Amino acid sequence: MKIIRFTNLPGDGIGPEVMSVALEVLEKTGEVYGFACETTAHDVGGIGIDNHGKALPQSTLDACKSVDAILFGSVGGPKWENLPPKEQPERAALLPLRKAFELFANLRPGNLFPELADLSPLRSDVASAGIDVLCVRELTGGIYFGQPKNTRTLEDGQKEAVDTMVYRTGEIQRITEVAVKAAALRDKKICSVDKANVLETSILWRQTVSECVQKLDPSIELSHMYVDNAAMQLVRNPNQFDVLLTENMFGDILSDELAVICGSLGMLASASLGTGTNSNNFPFGLYEPAGGTAPDIAGKGVANPCAQVLSAALMLRYSFGLEEAALAIENAVKETIRSGLRTGDIAQGAPAVGTTEMGSAILSRIA
Ligand code: IPM
Ligand code: MG
Repeated sequence: MKIIRFTNLPGDGIGPEVMSVALEVLEKTGEVYGFACETTAHDVGGIGIDNHGKALPQSTLDACKSVDAILFGSVGGPKWENLPPKEQPERAALLPLRKAFELFANLRPGNLFPELADLSPLRSDVASAGIDVLCVRELTGGIYFGQPKNTRTLEDGQKEAVDTMVYRTGEIQRITEVAVKAAALRDKKICSVDKANVLETSILWRQTVSECVQKLDPSIELSHMYVDNAAMQLVRNPNQFDVLLTENMFGDILSDELAVICGSLGMLASASLGTGTNSNNFPFGLYEPAGGTAPDIAGKGVANPCAQVLSAALMLRYSFGLEEAALAIENAVKETIRSGLRTGDIAQGAPAVGTTEMGSAILSRIA
């Protein structure tokens, strides 16, 4: 039997509750599709700070280096909010993990099930068509990591802070390649988002993306859009987009916009893929839900496990090549939603079920 090896990092808040559902779903899926999970849990985020003095403890990092993928929960919460920004769980755990594994390709699928159209803040005639957009965000370059990055005091006593936005052609080419591969499995349309009317990095971005798509797959319909316009078009008519391809910070902002128009953060999964291949000849990846730790409902057993479960499906697809098993999980979630079962975040006042009940309903639909 095929054995899949990954670490699970539940993190803080609702992380542990939804992670345990995702692990059960993976195990059941393995029974049906012929694989076994070998996984160990490790501290990350606030609990890392509490237990090891660091949001990303060395022991956690070492464990991740010995496996083929990371299933990540979520990190952060009020307890750690007063730490200096650089030490906060989100930044001190996620950014070093992304850098350590060169997780340069962040895929954030934005899906609004038509059944859940009422949850979208978009007008109902727009939302009722459903939404299906994939955001492909560059994740290890740009203004997040560029040097110099510092704050200093000037002679006149003012302070000056600098962040540097920098891109090389190689970084743009490799993320474009990911977008091209993703688009080939979808509607073969890429909209590349930049600010080429102002930024040098964007001019290079636009040129490189164009050349790269032309070379890799000229049958793809490529368009370019300025980021301010893209932010507007995404709420006006989201289904004009198939794959959105963009740099790190624009992708950070647009992917939150995409998430909110899709109704519930509790439904959205994401994948961050690295360079090179793991021991299965697929990319090493980190898989995480988009919703955060939801401290207000943590420990109450009411969190929506769907995003964590869907993240596990993405892990099977991208890091283990188990497409059928991934689809089975995605369909089980879809069917569960179709059956009318709702956790509090998507119930809109109707009766809601808890995390484990939602989990069992998904489990029972894995076939
Ligand atoms: C995200 C988050 C992170 C980012 C933060 C927590 C550093 O907003 O994954 O989108 O900006 O990338
Ligand atoms: Mg963000």
